[in-house]
Amino acid sequence: MQFLILIVSLINTIHCDDDGLNRVQNQLSEESLTPYINQHGSRLSHRSIQECHTLEHGSPPHELYEAHKTLNLSEPFVKVKRFVKEIKSSFIPKTVRGHYVIVFNPIKTLSVLEPDQPGGCSLNIRQTVAATSKKNNCVVAINAGYFDTKDGKCLGNVVSDGRIAHDSKGIQNAHFGLTKDEQIFIGYISEDSVLSGNILQLVGGVIWIIRNGTGFVNSSKKLECEKTEETGPMDHFANILSARTAVGHDKDGNVVLVQVDGKSSTDGVNLYDMEILLKEFGLVNVINLDGGGSSTLVINGTTANYPYDSCDDQNFACDRKVSTVLCVHSPYCDPSDCNGHGTCSMGECLCEKNWLPPKCDQLFCSKTNCSNKGICTNEGCMCHPGFLGEDCNENCLDGWYGNMCSKQCECYNSLGCDPITGTCRCKSGFTGEKCQNSCPVGFFGVNCHLKCQCNHSCFCDPITGACEVLHNTSFYEAAKCEAENIIRQQNLIKDNVGERRKWYITMVILGIITAACLASFLLMMFCSCSCYCQNEQLLCLKNERKPQKKYRLQLPSGYLSDSLSDSETVPMQNLQKA
Ligand SMILES: *[C@@H]1O[C@H](CO)[C@@H](O)[C@H](O)[C@H]1NC(C)=O
Ligand SMILES: *[C@@H]1O[C@H](CO)[C@@H](O)[C@H](O)[C@H]1NC(C)=O
Ligand SMILES: *[C@@H]1O[C@H](CO)[C@@H](O)[C@H](O)[C@H]1NC(C)=O
Ligand SMILES: *[C@@H]1O[C@H](CO)[C@@H](O)[C@H](O)[C@H]1NC(C)=O
Ligand SMILES: *[C@@H]1O[C@H](CO)[C@@H](O)[C@H](O)[C@H]1NC(C)=O
Ligand SMILES: *[C@@H]1O[C@H](CO)[C@@H](O)[C@H](O)[C@H]1NC(C)=O
Ligand SMILES: *[C@@H]1O[C@H](CO)[C@@H](O)[C@H](O)[C@H]1NC(C)=O
Repeated sequence: MQFLILIVSLINTIHCDDDGLNRVQNQLSEESLTPYINQHGSRLSHRSIQECHTLEHGSPPHELYEAHKTLNLSEPFVKVKRFVKEIKSSFIPKTVRGHYVIVFNPIKTLSVLEPDQPGGCSLNIRQTVAATSKKNNCVVAINAGYFDTKDGKCLGNVVSDGRIAHDSKGIQNAHFGLTKDEQIFIGYISEDSVLSGNILQLVGGVIWIIRNGTGFVNSSKKLECEKTEETGPMDHFANILSARTAVGHDKDGNVVLVQVDGKSSTDGVNLYDMEILLKEFGLVNVINLDGGGSSTLVINGTTANYPYDSCDDQNFACDRKVSTVLCVHSPYCDPSDCNGHGTCSMGECLCEKNWLPPKCDQLFCSKTNCSNKGICTNEGCMCHPGFLGEDCNENCLDGWYGNMCSKQCECYNSLGCDPITGTCRCKSGFTGEKCQNSCPVGFFGVNCHLKCQCNHSCFCDPITGACEVLHNTSFYEAAKCEAENIIRQQNLIKDNVGERRKWYITMVILGIITAACLASFLLMMFCSCSCYCQNEQLLCLKNERKPQKKYRLQLPSGYLSDSLSDSETVPMQNLQKA
């Protein structure tokens, strides 16, 4: 058996020049479909494609095709079909077995994955398709780009979900990609275009098998190795029977993955057989991806085809650790992480409570987003002080205020308090922090801001400002007193002085009159006494009829004459004459 393999290897060595040597050394673990072996090696390297000139600028040939977009969520987004087909090969009719995968909404459900994990290309990681698929929840996954079998380096451009994972500097190999403007890219791509930012997914293969529905293997062999005359090795690459993986699209813009089982040199198809097969499927553009022992199709985490790398137990075949993978997954959401506030299901973000679909990027609470009276949070409305309710559209009950209306107003003569600050709203006629004070004298109304306008009193009704109302008699008295004081102190000081002078004058006059009266009374007493006691005894007896005249005082003429009647004075004069 070992001998047979050696023979086959030797035959291959003749075909494949120095690459065959490698294969012998590696006991078939690297096989002839790997195109880049000895990248910078001898001129005899049969993968002469690596010697192609790179294209940094310009527009190398490619096709763009509108990707199928409408995704009917009640239908599966991917279908896997099996085929066992008789094809008329260039040599003899043969039976071809494989899988045909239709991806209905490639823009949303197809991704190029780096081996094992994001960053796998820069780490030169290799991983089985199944493992990479499981890590990324792929429903269907297939091996994709080429890689350096010695160091695991990713070959060709790799763009994964819009992130450039590997830049091959514009090397002219067939590439498959999806653009951000939702087109399928097939063909050659310059470095400029890779870096343009319009690429969503990109992976490189070797040989553009079908272009615009017609076979393109012969042409692409020349295109991909334009400056190289070593077409011989490329012919071998195209002609060798093996397992194959290809990616392309149908006329509806669905992406199609085709996997054909085989084994290098002995079983499977060459690229011309592939061309026939793909044309029969009616595909429009298809490129050839990494094949041979790398060719692996994984469905729901399980390998569905027959990769043929030997396991440790040589009786059995095992999956090869490969490089990039084409992964069909349930539709990505936009954004894929639903902004961290939702879970993605079939391309739709199922947003957490209070987060707005479709992107779960905005909070929106209840019906009116907290009525502008609160802040919307994950947990719901956080109402501003003074407001309550699911939507913060309820005011605090009377007598309550503050956060959650949880504080009680502390007011006495009030109409409640401010629902936000708790400031007491005093009834008319009251003031003070807690409305504990009546208005000061002379003021009335709400917050006692109005001044009484009464003529004779500085007091007015503290509620209405009315001047007449005796709202509280004792208080009224106090106010009246106060008002008088104010009048006395302020308005009448000057007049007061004049008044006092008049008063003094009056008092002096009154004093003089009193003194004069007293004096005349004493005089009259004295006169009467002397009249009686001395000589005029007869006269005194004659005048006993009018005793009142006896005491009359004889005053100088004119003195007190105004106050005495004529009739009364006559007897006095008579008396004197007598
Ligand atoms: C989606 O598919 C279901 C079942 O195939 C069909 O009944 C429905 O009409 C489709 N909806 C749309 C929008 O195409
Ligand atoms: C392929 O078809 C498209 C239109 O479908 C056309 O624009 C383009 O020129 C064709 N390419 C070739 C090489 O024939
Ligand atoms: C490809 O070129 C080979 C010769 O190099 C020729 O025999 C073959 O018919 C060509 N195939 C197609 C499909 O043109
Ligand atoms: C993958 O498994 C799920 C059930 O787990 C099934 O509904 C679905 O059809 C499977 N996908 C494929 C492509 O077989
Ligand atoms: C709802 O309110 C929050 C703040 O409370 C704000 O950040 C958010 O943008 C609002 N949502 C909408 C849809 O306006
Ligand atoms: C105050 O007196 C003026 C005239 O001196 C009078 O017009 C006015 O109505 C009076 N006001 C009150 C409140 O009695
Ligand atoms: C009247 O004033 C006294 C104190 O001056 C007060 O105790 C009383 O409550 C007042 N009455 C009214 C009706 O305002």
